[in-house]
Amino acid sequence: MITLTAVRLNLIPRGADKLSKPFYVTTPIYYVNDKPHIGHAYTTIAADLLARFHRLAGRESFFLTGTDEHGSKVAEAAAEAGVSEIEFCDKTVETFKEAWKNLEIDYDYFIRTTSQRHEKAVWKILDAMRAARLEDGREVVYSDYYEGLYCTGCEKFLTEKELVDGECPDHRKVPEKLREKNYFFRLSAYLPVLKQKIESDELKILPEERKREVLGLIDQDLPDFSLSRERVKWGIPLSFDDSQVAYVWVDALSNYISAIGYGDDPAQFDKWWTNAEVVHLMAKDILKFHCLYWPAMLMAAGLKLPDTLFLHGFFTVDGQKMSKSLGARIDPNDMVAEFGPDGTRYLLLTQYPFGIDGDIQASRFISQYNSDLANDLGNLVSRVAKMVMVNFDGRLPQPYNGLEGLQELMEQAERLPNAAHEHINHFRIGQAIGDAITMVRAANKFFNDRAPWNLAREGRTEELGGVLYACCEILRIVSVVLYPVMPSKMRELRKVLSLDDDTLTLVNAREFFNLQPGAKISINEPIFPRLKPSKEQKTTETEKKTKSADNLLDISEFARADMRVAKVLTAEPVEGADKLLKLQVDLGNHKRQIVAGVARHYSPEKITGMNIIVVTNLKPATIRGVESNGMLLAASKGSKLVLLVPDGDLPLGARVS
Ligand code: MSP
Repeated sequence: MITLTAVRLNLIPRGADKLSKPFYVTTPIYYVNDKPHIGHAYTTIAADLLARFHRLAGRESFFLTGTDEHGSKVAEAAAEAGVSEIEFCDKTVETFKEAWKNLEIDYDYFIRTTSQRHEKAVWKILDAMRAARLEDGREVVYSDYYEGLYCTGCEKFLTEKELVDGECPDHRKVPEKLREKNYFFRLSAYLPVLKQKIESDELKILPEERKREVLGLIDQDLPDFSLSRERVKWGIPLSFDDSQVAYVWVDALSNYISAIGYGDDPAQFDKWWTNAEVVHLMAKDILKFHCLYWPAMLMAAGLKLPDTLFLHGFFTVDGQKMSKSLGARIDPNDMVAEFGPDGTRYLLLTQYPFGIDGDIQASRFISQYNSDLANDLGNLVSRVAKMVMVNFDGRLPQPYNGLEGLQELMEQAERLPNAAHEHINHFRIGQAIGDAITMVRAANKFFNDRAPWNLAREGRTEELGGVLYACCEILRIVSVVLYPVMPSKMRELRKVLSLDDDTLTLVNAREFFNLQPGAKISINEPIFPRLKPSKEQKTTETEKKTKSADNLLDISEFARADMRVAKVLTAEPVEGADKLLKLQVDLGNHKRQIVAGVARHYSPEKITGMNIIVVTNLKPATIRGVESNGMLLAASKGSKLVLLVPDGDLPLGARVS
C-alpha cells in the first residue's frame, strides 16, 4: 500500500498542482500605430488555442488581449492623420478587433491602455512601488536625470551597442540625444532575487534558450529604468507629479493586471492573478521588459509573479523582417479571405515549431492547405461520410472488432487526447497539431488498406461497417483535439457526425466506442474544399500583397546595395553542380570569388573576359562547399537568362546606381 502511494505520487507530473488552478493567458498589447499583421495574429491565435484547449480539459480560462495606445509614436501618427490621439486610437483599435473577429479569436477581455480602468490600475501600481522600501530602507522609486539616445520608433532609449552605423537598426533612424528628469525604478536591487527565481523556475521562462538569454542580461548588471517620461505628452500623468507621464512600458505591462481588476475588482483580481496559473505569451523582441522589468515591478508592488513567460519565435516573411515601414507584411485578413479563419489559424501555427524562429513563405500556403486539410482531413471526412450514406442509409453502422490494423489504430486514437494535452501544457503547439494530423493519415491508410469499396462489392457488410465506424470515431476524437485550432471547421465536422457541443470535451475524446451506432451521418459539401491556384496566376492573393504597395523600397534601402562593374578573370565548373560556375572577378582595387548559377547559359570560355555587374556587399555564402562573395546581375524569363553588362567602357569598380 505504502509503495503504491509512493509510486502514484511519482506519477504526478511536475507542476500538476498548477493544472487545477484557473488558467490566465495573455498576449502582448499591440501598438495602435501599426495595423495587424500575421506576427500579431500568430501570438493571438496561439493564446486563443491555449485558452480553448484548457477549457476543453475542463479548466476555467481567461484570455486577454488588447492595445497599447500611449506614447510619442501614437501621438505622431495621430498628428500625421490630422486627428486627436484618442480619435486615432478609437479608429485603429477597430482594425485589431476586426482582424481578431475574422480569425475567430475568442478573447474574454480586450484591454485598452486609454481606458479609465487601466489608468486607475497604473496609478495603483505606481503608488505601491513608490511606497516600497528595500531591506536597507532605500526607496525603490527615486528621482534623477536620464540622458540617452532615444529612438521614437522603438519608444526606448538605445545603447550605443544596439546602434548600427549610428542608427536604430529597426527604424534606420539616428536616435535623438535626450536628457530629462525621470522617476527611476531600482531594478538593480531586484536582479539577484530575480536571478534565483528564474534559475529555479519559480518564474519559468521558456524556451530554455530565452531563459539563458535573460540570465545573461542579468549578468550584465542592467541599469535602473525610468518609470516616467517628461517629454512624452500622450500618456498617463503621474498622480504625484503631473509634469511626467508613466513610461510607456510601465503603462503597457500593467495591462495584465488592470484588465482583471487590480484597480477596481479585488475578487476578480484574486481569482485570475493571485490564485491562477498566469502565462504571458509574446515573441522574444520584448523579452527584457517582460522577464525583468515586469517581475521586478510586481515584486516591488507586493504582487505574485506570473508563472510562465513563453517567448515564441520571431518570423520573417520571404526572408524579410515585417515591420511597419520595411519589408514584406501579410495582412491576416487577406489570409482569412483566402483560407478562411480556420485555414489561416492552422497554416500560421504549423509553419515552424512554437518557440523557434522561422521564415514564412506565402507561396507554400496553398499546397500545405491542400495537402493537410483538403486531402488528408477533408477527404477522409467526405469519403467516410459518403460511404455511410450510400451503404448504410446515412446511419452509423456497428463497430466490428476483427479488422486488421484496427487495434493499433484505436490505441493511437486513445493516446491522442492525452498526448495533445501534455503537449499543450508544455506549449508544444505544433506537436499537438502534428499528432492529430498523423492520426488522420493513419486513418486514411487504414481506410485504404481495408479497401471498403471491395467490402461493399463483396457484400461483407459487417466489416465495411466496422471500417466506417472506426474512421468516424477517429474523426470524432480529432474534432475535439483540433477544435482549439480550427473551431468552426471542427464544429462542421462534428455536425457531419451529428455531435453537438455537449460532448466537445477532452474527457469525451478519451474513450473509443463513444459514437452511438444508428447516429445520423451526412455531408453535403467537402469541409475543406481544395484550393486551385489558377495557372496564369501562380502567386496567391496573400503573396501578391507582400509583393505590392506595402513592400515598396524607398531609395535609401535600394541604395544600400553596392553594385560595381567587374571583369571575369577565370571561370570553372563547380563539381557536382551543373548550374554553377566558380568565377574569379576583378573589381579594380581587389579580386574576389563568386559562385554563380549561370553555367547552363554561359560556358566558362564565353563568360571569361566579360565585363559584368556584381553586388558586392552581400554576406558571404557557401554554395556547394565553395565560398561566394557577391552576386552577378542577370535578367531571366522562363529558361532564358542573360547577364547585365555595362553599355560602354568604364573602369573596373565603377559604382552602379
Ligand atoms: N506594445 C508592445 C507590447 C507591450 S506588452 C505589455 C509591443 N507591441 S507590438 O505591436 O510591437 O507587438 C509585439 C508582439 O507582436 C511580439 O512580441 C509578438 O507577440 C508579435 N509579433 C510581432 N511581429 C512578429 C513576428 N514577426 N513574429 C512573431 N511574432 C511577432 O511590442
